[in-house]
Amino acid sequence: MNKGNAKASILIVDDESSVRGIILRKLTQVGYYCDEAANGNIALKKIDERDFDLVLLDISMPVKSGTEVLQEIASKYPDIAVIMVTAISNVETAIQSMKLGAYDYIIKPVELNILMLSVNRALEKRRLVRENRDYQLHLEKKVQEQTEKIRESFLNSIMSLAVALEAKDEYTRGHSERVTSSAVVIAREMGLPDEMVEKIRLASLVHDIGKIGVSESILGKPGKLTEDEYRHVMAHCEIGERILRPIVEDEEILEMVRHHHERYDGTGYPDGLAADPNANGARSSKQSGDPVMKRFSVGSRLLAVIDAYDAMTSNRPYRKALDIEVARAEMEKGKGRQFDPKIVDIFLRVSDGLVAGHQKRSHADKLT
Ligand SMILES: [Fe+2]
Repeated sequence: MNKGNAKASILIVDDESSVRGIILRKLTQVGYYCDEAANGNIALKKIDERDFDLVLLDISMPVKSGTEVLQEIASKYPDIAVIMVTAISNVETAIQSMKLGAYDYIIKPVELNILMLSVNRALEKRRLVRENRDYQLHLEKKVQEQTEKIRESFLNSIMSLAVALEAKDEYTRGHSERVTSSAVVIAREMGLPDEMVEKIRLASLVHDIGKIGVSESILGKPGKLTEDEYRHVMAHCEIGERILRPIVEDEEILEMVRHHHERYDGTGYPDGLAADPNANGARSSKQSGDPVMKRFSVGSRLLAVIDAYDAMTSNRPYRKALDIEVARAEMEKGKGRQFDPKIVDIFLRVSDGLVAGHQKRSHADKLT
């Protein structure tokens, strides 16, 4: 809380009682609350007991020098303004004291007008510093609140998009949700940091959002797709990234959406990025001539595994769901070609529980 300077409390520390008396009278007259201390130890005790705004501190005192007292005040109570009071012979020390945090120094014999000027300035500066700090704290809190609101509305937008896609394409109904729950489990099993797990969760929810831009007749076509139609479907990765970019600032989430159909050996789409450093098919590396092959992220590799498995084990307009064992064998076969082998191993190892859950759900889907 800010106190007006007229009500500020000031401690006068000096071993000479006459000096204390003169200063105390003057400051009390103009409305300050004042207390006094005859040495450093008494002063520190009083400061411990009461909230002072300003300390007038004599440098040359028995028991503890003003400089020592200043150091203790500065480390324990950095909010207290300190003005050093010194004999002319000690001006050098007074100047040094300002480096230790004193606001100003005044020379004895104390001229009351100069004292008042210095006291008022020190209190004003202290008030501004505290106001500024309070403002910063307030601002940080405001920014945090705003960030939370933006995050919430971002999550709501993501959810609406996911719902919109599922309403459009009955064959992907439940797909995003299943992929998301599996992706989170596998990401945790892989020991990825919480922040990355959350990004994978969000990316999984909307990884196929670009299908909103693919015609329904193609998405629901019961037969084999023509080459043109297939190209159209493949575009959903890039369309998804474009749809999300205005609301998703996080490049890693966008990257996962764009690259969830890349393949480990570099023959996937849309960019033909490889994850295997020995792969031959990475188009981007050939195009750019970059000797360091551009790879797609661990999140995309994980999403690619889970997305493909869920697609295999779901009914599609053009084929029935594969049996779990057949799908698992396909995943094994795809290791090192379509899929990151380590992720497939982890997925197959932990997927028994997930598979059981999915089976239950797809059985329920068939009943409704
Ligand atoms: Fe997809």
